[in-house]
Amino acid sequence: MANTAARLNIIFDLLSLLCLVILLSPADRIHNFLSVSASTLPSPSRHLQDEAIANNKKRDFKLARIEAQLAKARGEIHKAIVEKSFTSSNTSFIREGTVYKNPFAFFQSHTEMIKTFKIWTYKEGETPLMHNGPMRYLYSIEGDFIEEMERNGNPMVARDPDEAHAFFIPISITNIVYYLYKPNEAFGFRERVQAIVEDYIGVIAQRYPYWNRSNGADHFFVSCHDWAPWVSLGNPKLFKNFIRVLCNANTSEGFIPIRDVSMTEINGPADNIPTASSGQPPYNRSILAFFSGGKHGFIRERLFQYWGNKEDDGIQVFSYLPKGQNYTKLLSQSKYCLCPSGYEVASTRATEAIYTGCVPVLIKDHYALPYSDVLDWSQFSIQVPVDKIPEIKRILQEIPFSKYLEMQKKVLEVQRHFMVNLPAKHFDVLHMILHSVWLRRLNVQLNSFV
Ligand SMILES: *[C@@H]1O[C@H](CO)[C@@H](O)[C@H](O)[C@H]1NC(C)=O
Ligand SMILES: *[C@@H]1O[C@H](CO)[C@@H](O)[C@H](O)[C@H]1NC(C)=O
Ligand SMILES: *[C@@H]1O[C@H](CO)[C@@H](O)[C@H](O)[C@H]1NC(C)=O
Ligand SMILES: *[C@@H]1O[C@H](CO)[C@@H](O)[C@H](O)[C@H]1NC(C)=O
Ligand SMILES: *[C@@H]1O[C@H](CO)[C@@H](O)[C@H](O)[C@H]1NC(C)=O
Repeated sequence: MANTAARLNIIFDLLSLLCLVILLSPADRIHNFLSVSASTLPSPSRHLQDEAIANNKKRDFKLARIEAQLAKARGEIHKAIVEKSFTSSNTSFIREGTVYKNPFAFFQSHTEMIKTFKIWTYKEGETPLMHNGPMRYLYSIEGDFIEEMERNGNPMVARDPDEAHAFFIPISITNIVYYLYKPNEAFGFRERVQAIVEDYIGVIAQRYPYWNRSNGADHFFVSCHDWAPWVSLGNPKLFKNFIRVLCNANTSEGFIPIRDVSMTEINGPADNIPTASSGQPPYNRSILAFFSGGKHGFIRERLFQYWGNKEDDGIQVFSYLPKGQNYTKLLSQSKYCLCPSGYEVASTRATEAIYTGCVPVLIKDHYALPYSDVLDWSQFSIQVPVDKIPEIKRILQEIPFSKYLEMQKKVLEVQRHFMVNLPAKHFDVLHMILHSVWLRRLNVQLNSFV
């Protein structure tokens, strides 16, 4: 009984996302904009006008083809949802597991993405602020993603912008901060970041028809930096439809899950590629819950206030690890790994837990969970509200061992969705990010008629 209800919910979840296509898109967003821009364009000379009409027709034909491809993909996904099956030449990824909200929808959608999705990365701009990003440390996913999108031979790269379903703006906010931010000249820095991004958009909107055609709804950027959400604060109208792919996915600071994408923060090692293991077997994990990290922000303050350096045999919370202790080893000896927000909601903790087979305990408010269009986080993680921090030990102890075993198994099942590969591999984290963008693009329909 419970199962049926859950499944109905699941189907509804993805369906509602796809249904929005018709309701939310062309009429208000796109149409209005087209009529505005058409009436403000200066009238070209006759000759130019003819040429412009010819070009426009060509372009519209191409846009119609793009939209037809997306419509077909939507149809295949609907079919998979309704028929509870999916058509793929590659069945090696089918799992019966419940880590997905709807496995049929997800696998079909991923298959359609691989078959269809083409992305144009704008060539404008120069390194190091554009076309380049960090590939190590906290914000590594930003550089990894840019690297993958600019990799020769990436099959998702559009050969021509006219065949693209989405447009990538290859700006690295982390590099902008790294190269331009000086703490003693901090005043006005936020406006400077905004100006760089708005200038870039100004250039590409002037040079090409694509931004204006969708008012940015098929354009995206990717940034893991805490300050990346600033980008759109100065000019909300310009960024109204723009897809922001962010680690700092704080829903009470303007992150909109149906438009924006939440991505995982990953601590990239020196050789770029993090590794994962199954850690200790679940029955041999002697620490109930573990955390080690800086006292950043009020949530961690509270965690330390209740559980810090207590030598509690169940809950181990350290600001700095005792000498000689190995962080990864401790994670892999723990049943649960605490993942409190730092100064911002994003943190590398959840991926670190998943990489070591430790069940993540998310202690965050207002956080949009990464890839949660498709992943059902309740199957492989625990969420503890910030005001329940004093009760963490009791909450975790009350989870039956059999339930823990199930969750731990599912942590290992979702590992592949958090792994970094360069080049990207099917279903890995770069594909999860791309798939999130793909779903949002499927959700918008552009009008191909003038
Ligand atoms: C099928 O999946 C396997 C997963 O291991 C992958 O290596 C292979 O490239 C996939 N084949 C196709 C045709 O996508
Ligand atoms: C896009 O719209 C802006 C603002 O209305 C305009 O300045 C620009 O010329 C347009 N771009 C194209 C390619 O028509
Ligand atoms: C259990 O864990 C301990 C240390 O955490 C390790 O030395 C031992 O090999 C593990 N035993 C099994 C059966 O995995
Ligand atoms: C820490 O532990 C991990 C996992 O047990 C191991 O792979 C790694 O080599 C250890 N690191 C050090 C510095 O001992
Ligand atoms: C998220 O946004 C809210 C509202 O602005 C803010 O109070 C909070 O500090 C932010 N960050 C975290 C980690 O919750």
